[in-house]
Amino acid sequence: MSQKKKSKPANKHLSSAYDRSTSRSKMVHGTPVTNAWEFSKHLIPPITSNTTFRLGSLDRGAKGFLQFGSEELSRDPSHEPILIYDRLDEPNTLLLEEHLAQLEGSESAVTFGSGMGAISSSLLSVMKSGQRVIAHRNLYGCTYSLLADWLPRFGIQSTFIDVNSREHRQLLHDPNVRVLYFECVSNPSLDLADLPAIMSEVKKINKTRSESDRIITIVDNTFATPWGLRPIEWGIDIVIHSLTKNIGGFGTEMGGAAMSKKTFERGLKLARKDFGAILNPKSAWGITVHGIPTLALRFEKQQTNAMAVARFLERHPKVEKVTYPGLKSYSHAKLAKRVLRTPEGKFAPGTMISFTVKGNLEKCRRFVDHIAKNSYSITLAVSLGLTKTLIEVPGYMTHAAIPKDKQSESGIDPRLIRLSLGIEDSKDLIADLDAAFRAL
Ligand SMILES: Cc1ncc(COP(=O)(O)O)c(C=O)c1O
Repeated sequence: MSQKKKSKPANKHLSSAYDRSTSRSKMVHGTPVTNAWEFSKHLIPPITSNTTFRLGSLDRGAKGFLQFGSEELSRDPSHEPILIYDRLDEPNTLLLEEHLAQLEGSESAVTFGSGMGAISSSLLSVMKSGQRVIAHRNLYGCTYSLLADWLPRFGIQSTFIDVNSREHRQLLHDPNVRVLYFECVSNPSLDLADLPAIMSEVKKINKTRSESDRIITIVDNTFATPWGLRPIEWGIDIVIHSLTKNIGGFGTEMGGAAMSKKTFERGLKLARKDFGAILNPKSAWGITVHGIPTLALRFEKQQTNAMAVARFLERHPKVEKVTYPGLKSYSHAKLAKRVLRTPEGKFAPGTMISFTVKGNLEKCRRFVDHIAKNSYSITLAVSLGLTKTLIEVPGYMTHAAIPKDKQSESGIDPRLIRLSLGIEDSKDLIADLDAAFRAL
């Protein structure tokens, strides 16, 4: 296997066929022919298990280093990157990046070793000491600790707000604010960010600022997935995914990605090169071959299960509150119908549910322990978006990094239970939940 010699655009026939294809077919086929590497002879690309590349001549090696991360070259569809070393660029990850960019509708995708690698590198690639982040108050626990505990060491402060409050968003007028950060559907409260309102305000503020001072919007779209929401369409600058979740889908690979305009690609690649949060090519391969092609199928079944389970929970006399974007009772139901849409235009309320059981923390513990010990179809485990249904208590598990006294400010009830729906039969899921309620 070698890099192609002649500079020519990727297979013309395939490119035009690709343009006519629907999103579903694009997810299955991705980019079978790419300028980055010769994968065209294989139905399934081979795993490129190799850390360094034969460069042939000093001139070619020097050219590779000079060209690395060039925005101009990455815009050229006929450009064949000179591959040097895996920490810079790598064939399987380049292939995955092309596929991810198609899925998200972005100009560029840069992969990382985990979702946290994508988040930290995205923030560090655009920020400097003295600048400020405004973030939504309800965030994944490690994102919170990155913003609240780590970035202040480098002179970057964060303020947590309700991103849907116009009054709170007044803080964006501070000229030191460089980044507005939120999760489109937040973990674990399932707050839905009002993308149309937020982005119209950010655009107005940015009109008054120079390019180097403008507010950069970074969102984590892990919960909604690109099948359920594409924030680039709303004008977001950088969209992050933990590929470990729905996109990877099977619980076998860790990974992360930052999708953006080409203007951010160089900074993201340089941050990845120097901080080193690279994606393992074997994981890139698994996500390309198994994860993305099955995303829509898995997502739709998980979502049907989520709807059935959310309705069951809503009717259950021992349940205090259920949050699911597909329920009429959901606090942002109208907004959800507007922004949570598949590329085919169907409503996509997602695969995650949060709920509380009536009673104190002890009741919550007994309920979850009953599931952990007796359930067949529901497993007590962190992570989400997998083929298996998972349950957890964020306040004590995924969000334990948020100090207890800050959790209520972040909108986290210590009794909150998070369910990530898998592809089992919803009858089995409901039977397992029902048994745990009976045991209370
Ligand atoms: C919304 C969200 N973003 C980011 C992450 C971090 O992803 P990773 O575990 O791949 O680093 C998680 C992990 O649970 C998450 O739930």
